[in-house]
Amino acid sequence: MAVTLVIGSQWGDEGKGKIIDYLSLKSDYVVRFHGGNNAGHTVINKLGKFPMHLVPSGIFNEKSKAIISNGVILDLEVLVSEIESLEKSGIKTKGRLFISPRCHLIMPYHKILDRLYEEAKGKKKTGTTGRGIGPTYADKVSYNGIRIADLLSKTGFLEKLETQLILKNKILTALGEKKLSKNEIADHFLKIREKIKPYVAEVYPLLQNAIKNKKEILLEGAHGVFLDNDWGTYPFVSASTVLSGGVTAGAGIPPRDINNIIGVVKAYTTRVGSGPFPTELFESVGEKLREKGNEFGTTTGRKRRCGWLDIELIRFASQINGYTGLAITKLDVLDGFPQIKVCTSYTYDGKKVNYSAGDAVFLSRVKPVYKTFKGWKKPTKGIKKYADLPIEAKEYLKGIEKLAGTKIKYVSTGGERTEIIKI
Ligand code: GDP
Ligand code: IMO
Ligand code: MG
Repeated sequence: MAVTLVIGSQWGDEGKGKIIDYLSLKSDYVVRFHGGNNAGHTVINKLGKFPMHLVPSGIFNEKSKAIISNGVILDLEVLVSEIESLEKSGIKTKGRLFISPRCHLIMPYHKILDRLYEEAKGKKKTGTTGRGIGPTYADKVSYNGIRIADLLSKTGFLEKLETQLILKNKILTALGEKKLSKNEIADHFLKIREKIKPYVAEVYPLLQNAIKNKKEILLEGAHGVFLDNDWGTYPFVSASTVLSGGVTAGAGIPPRDINNIIGVVKAYTTRVGSGPFPTELFESVGEKLREKGNEFGTTTGRKRRCGWLDIELIRFASQINGYTGLAITKLDVLDGFPQIKVCTSYTYDGKKVNYSAGDAVFLSRVKPVYKTFKGWKKPTKGIKKYADLPIEAKEYLKGIEKLAGTKIKYVSTGGERTEIIKI
């Protein structure tokens, strides 16, 4: 029936893994189309709790096929260990997981460069996940990348590796690092390639046939709109295109074939890493959100910064992506708060301004304008019917819908697959 795209609407960690796992029950294909193992998508279902970094979060639906398409960059060690741990939990991957030969490889020097760039920036660092994401995408766009297809041919791989090491070792030694050994890297990659070979297949015809045959395709966005390389809070962003427009480049799916675009919105806001965050809370309320929401990174374990929901951001996200609906997550985390604030707009020098009016420095100076909602006393945790929500929670959701100008289609009331309301 449809191609559905799920996008994080804030600074990542909105609960995309939870929503994908739920929606994948009706999917034939679930596709990761950008980013790398900087993503950490938590899935909790009857099979257990899984932090997914590269394998699509829909792998748990045994009828569905999981695709890692060309826009994703791969750390093969992380991928192999994720596949092995899924297999150990009884989840079959052979014949169900397909990896595009066009995916670029995260090489050892990319991780070192990621660290060196951050160290050079000092206090002004981006606060990356340290997974080599920026340097790998930089090599991709400057025609210096090494792809899975290259690795499949031993001579081709060794040639490319040699060229890159000539360049990269000059840079690394100039920056005080040790030279990397071609033989060590080559041995490691040629060994690990045997483990991923059975999964490599050109996925373009698979997806085109799926569209032609009206199969259900679920596209799993990573990160969040405000980490998008163009439209996020640059330079405090990630390297890939997070927006709905990234699907054609990252998965070979034409824009007109996307039927539903669901923006995942956490009922409050969090951010890991550096960069502006207008509604950030520093004292007890922020601490309470972190504690109740267990706001620690799925990938790095870092403390997530916490604050109130920022609707100015959600309106922008909805507009630029063309959302057809929202999925609100972690409503239950707000249980018991006497008052809940929502930023409805910004001012700058006393004048109303929009997110798109400026850059990261501008955003660090805007003043949020708040609307206060009444909290609720009855817990919402695990509620599955809209009618069972406390009246104040319904008012909060209606307020979000109205201010964002986008319909809410799902409300998540807990981390588990079944803790969800479909509206
Ligand atoms: P993602 O990167 O967008 O997939 O999000 P993460 O998995 O990094 O972070 C979301 C966290 O919130 C995970 O620990 C989820 O298990 C949890 N979670 C997701 N939805 C809900 C919800 O509705 N309520 C609660 N309490 N936790 C949730
Ligand atoms: P999921 O898919 C939260 C952030 C990093 C850092 C910036 C750049 O789980 O929502 P990078 O390593 O990508 O070069 O870091 O982007 N970041 C994320 N924050 N969730 C994510 O993914 C993120 N992916 C990248 O913290 O601020
Ligand atoms: Mg995450």
